[in-house]
Amino acid sequence: MERPASHSELAELSPGLRPGPDGRLAFGGCALADLAAEFGTAAILVDVATLRSTAERYVEATTAIRPNSRVHFATKAFPVPAVVGLMAEAGLYCDVASAGELAIALAGGMPAERILLHGNAKTDLDIGAALEAGIGLIVIDSFDDIDRIERLAERPQPVIVRINPGVLAPTHEAMATGHGESKFGIPNGQVEAAIARAAASPKMEMLGLHVHIGSQILELEPFVESVERIAALGTFDLYDLGGGLGSRYAMDEPVAPSIEDYAEALFGAAAVHLPDESVVAIEPGRSTVAPAGISLYSVVGVKRGDRTFVAIDGGMGDNMETALYGTRFWPAIVDKDGGPERCDVVGHHCETGDRLATDAWLSSPEVGDLLVIPVTGAYCHSMANNYNAMPRPPVIFVEDGDARVAIRRETIADLLGRAT
Ligand SMILES: Cc1ncc(COP(=O)(O)O)c(C=O)c1O
Repeated sequence: MERPASHSELAELSPGLRPGPDGRLAFGGCALADLAAEFGTAAILVDVATLRSTAERYVEATTAIRPNSRVHFATKAFPVPAVVGLMAEAGLYCDVASAGELAIALAGGMPAERILLHGNAKTDLDIGAALEAGIGLIVIDSFDDIDRIERLAERPQPVIVRINPGVLAPTHEAMATGHGESKFGIPNGQVEAAIARAAASPKMEMLGLHVHIGSQILELEPFVESVERIAALGTFDLYDLGGGLGSRYAMDEPVAPSIEDYAEALFGAAAVHLPDESVVAIEPGRSTVAPAGISLYSVVGVKRGDRTFVAIDGGMGDNMETALYGTRFWPAIVDKDGGPERCDVVGHHCETGDRLATDAWLSSPEVGDLLVIPVTGAYCHSMANNYNAMPRPPVIFVEDGDARVAIRRETIADLLGRAT
């Protein structure tokens, strides 16, 4: 697509993003210009209606095929109490990867028994917090996890064992987690010993197996393969098939498989390969939150030379996806129809790799314009950082024309607050 997307086309990427009755580009019924005036830029905005309907679709699509299924929201994708709270209300469970994510999930109102803890390097702090909260499941990723649970648990803790299925998912190499060289899971050849130790331990209730092959996966076949691999390891009460369904980030990318197609492929394979009475869990993160979020920036500089650089008041401090995984976003200038110009959207950090879009088509960008990037609900807030001592943006929930702060903007005082 060699032109900027029209304002009405942007809803194909983030459904809440569309022109309002007055023609201005709006999100969740709030004009972006008004949101910028009230909350400032840069800001991450969340359309509550999309978030809620996506969560509900996940529950419906999975339980329709397998009543004894569970959807764990992967908290790492958007670790905000209000986000996890909304997932809990919609009937989801969640997973956490640290004591910090656990605290966020509990603060959001997720019942402890619906939470599972995973991670390849859990500390005493992580496992201790999980045991103290009484969470539903801990995923054993190493024999060290077994040692820690045996040392710290006061009563039998339900556990599952993460395997490495030897499936190389078609995704960026930094997002593939199920192949032989991945750091995750019990090494092949040692799974039976891990299961036997957990099953024999008075401190553990060994319930089943866990697999997760990676993230931003746009083909369904590798998920099916992972079900076949996990099934080959025996009969258990619970199988957790992980997350990984990808999202569409740019107008010229194909539409991602739907939640319903994904559920059909995965739970269809589960019906064939896993025992009927077993519980089957999944852990979607990206696909539950990515399209529900957008990032709103102000243009702070435009350099027209061999290339046109449009510099914004954000960048790799609030969106690491491009720097880490080469994600191609589709930015747009808000409320403007000017002549299309090919531009690189760059951030305000001292780093050449601080670029959120390359060769993007923008409508005659100028200083003071608002620039929006759709599909930033996943892993942007969670990986936000303070490079160059830049405070992190707020997270604003929008719904039916109203807006509220879910995470406030960070201040320079916050940054200084840790110095002694
Ligand atoms: C163990 C585990 N479960 C679930 C997820 C969520 O994956 P995604 O956001 O791709 O759905 C991840 C992220 O990679 C993960 O590591």
